[in-house]
Amino acid sequence: MNRVSNRSSDSPTVDGRHLMFDDLEKLGRILVETGDVAHGFIQGADDMDVTCRDISAFDPSRPLSGQGSGTLDALRAAKEEILPLLAASIGPRYLGFVTGGTTPAALVGDWLASAVDQNATGPEGSVNAAVEEQVINWLCDFGGLPSDRFDGVLTTGATVSNLLGLVTGRQWCGERIGVNVDLDGAGVLPDLAIFAASPHASMVKDLSIAGIGRSAFTKVATLPGSEETDVDDLKSKLDASDARGKIVIASAGTVNATDFDNLEAIADLCAAYGAWLHVDAAFGLFAALDDRRAHFLKGIERADSITSDGHKWLNVPYDCGIFFTRHVSVLETCCRAFAPYLDTKADGNSYINRGVENSRRFRALPLWMALKAYGRDGFASIIRTNCDQAADLAEWVRGDEKLYLLREPKLNVTMFASRGSDDDNRALLDRINATGKVFLTPTIYGGRFGFRAAFSNWRTCTDDLVVIKQAIEAAL
Ligand SMILES: Cc1ncc(COP(=O)(O)O)c(C=O)c1O
Repeated sequence: MNRVSNRSSDSPTVDGRHLMFDDLEKLGRILVETGDVAHGFIQGADDMDVTCRDISAFDPSRPLSGQGSGTLDALRAAKEEILPLLAASIGPRYLGFVTGGTTPAALVGDWLASAVDQNATGPEGSVNAAVEEQVINWLCDFGGLPSDRFDGVLTTGATVSNLLGLVTGRQWCGERIGVNVDLDGAGVLPDLAIFAASPHASMVKDLSIAGIGRSAFTKVATLPGSEETDVDDLKSKLDASDARGKIVIASAGTVNATDFDNLEAIADLCAAYGAWLHVDAAFGLFAALDDRRAHFLKGIERADSITSDGHKWLNVPYDCGIFFTRHVSVLETCCRAFAPYLDTKADGNSYINRGVENSRRFRALPLWMALKAYGRDGFASIIRTNCDQAADLAEWVRGDEKLYLLREPKLNVTMFASRGSDDDNRALLDRINATGKVFLTPTIYGGRFGFRAAFSNWRTCTDDLVVIKQAIEAAL
């Protein structure tokens, strides 16, 4: 039966049928045209301005007409009204934040995820949960984590993974002293102490979301001139604390200096003081793929929970975060969702019980496609190349008398500034970004305002470094 042409609807219609059924008949053509538009944008990202400086042509208050005009018309409108006003953040010279692009395989996986539109809650009637399990095993291998000890879940990003680390750690701390935060609330564990030296802004936000409080953590000192935890200071602060629950937040790749904590020493302290160890390795985890840097992560396999991200250095489209833990049953205690209609007897992991969302996108598919398409070697090559590019830019900065490095890059981020005042540097950053050739984001490091160039995109090539240096030179 041709379900498409026989279908009628009560909704607004063309010739008795809703436009959606018309679109379904034309879907092949629509997908081809969409592919062409997407292809044009992706190819054009090499040459378009890296950010759009004026989006005033788009009027968010414009009312929606009652009757739609179909997908091809909406596609034409998107091409004219939206695409020209976007940032080329998938392109090779967008060096803001820690922004991955999208590889062709990840893009295809992401499109397929929308096409098959699974609600990736668990194993009932679909292989999606088994795919997620396989992807998590493969990612354990990428990060040098034993997959028989670590399990996890895909999240919307590192912010949510950090939140899962906090709530799972808090539950574990409570269980050790016989209280149940999951059932009875945070009030039953009033003396939970969190220790952190350089928590990412998302972790501080998560402290608020978890009801702990943004300022309710013990600030641990960092080593001089770095963002790395001062382990001696952590030890003395753990020693001085009589809290019955303790969580230590460590970093494997801080967002500015890309510093790595001494995870072995911190894991020893956590073992001695009965503390939960959470490591934020949003992008730093994949330094494990670079044999020149894998040693930075020594000891990470002793963490209780680890945050990472797919939409940063793995270059899968937003959104895709990763959470690993050695205590998946504690995670499931915190995140379980019970209702008769959700009950299942199917074998496999119920990811609905491992994260914040009940309904979930099939975000394992883009990762699965990308990992399968390019393998460990492909990703190792992105990591190594981006680190070399950060080092190359640092070398160039060192050779320019008007510029100086805020820190020697350890990984993929080069932080630098001009020798002028902070205000001069703010203006200089505006001029650099106004060239449209590169996009850098600001930072404050060692009390000085500067710029971060974060290399996280598989498409960045030697020619791009030439363009980036020319743009900075022209703006000086
Ligand atoms: C170390 C670290 N943790 C957490 C985050 C938050 O990541 P997301 O934006 O994926 O939530 C970032 C983002 O840059 C990060 O660098």
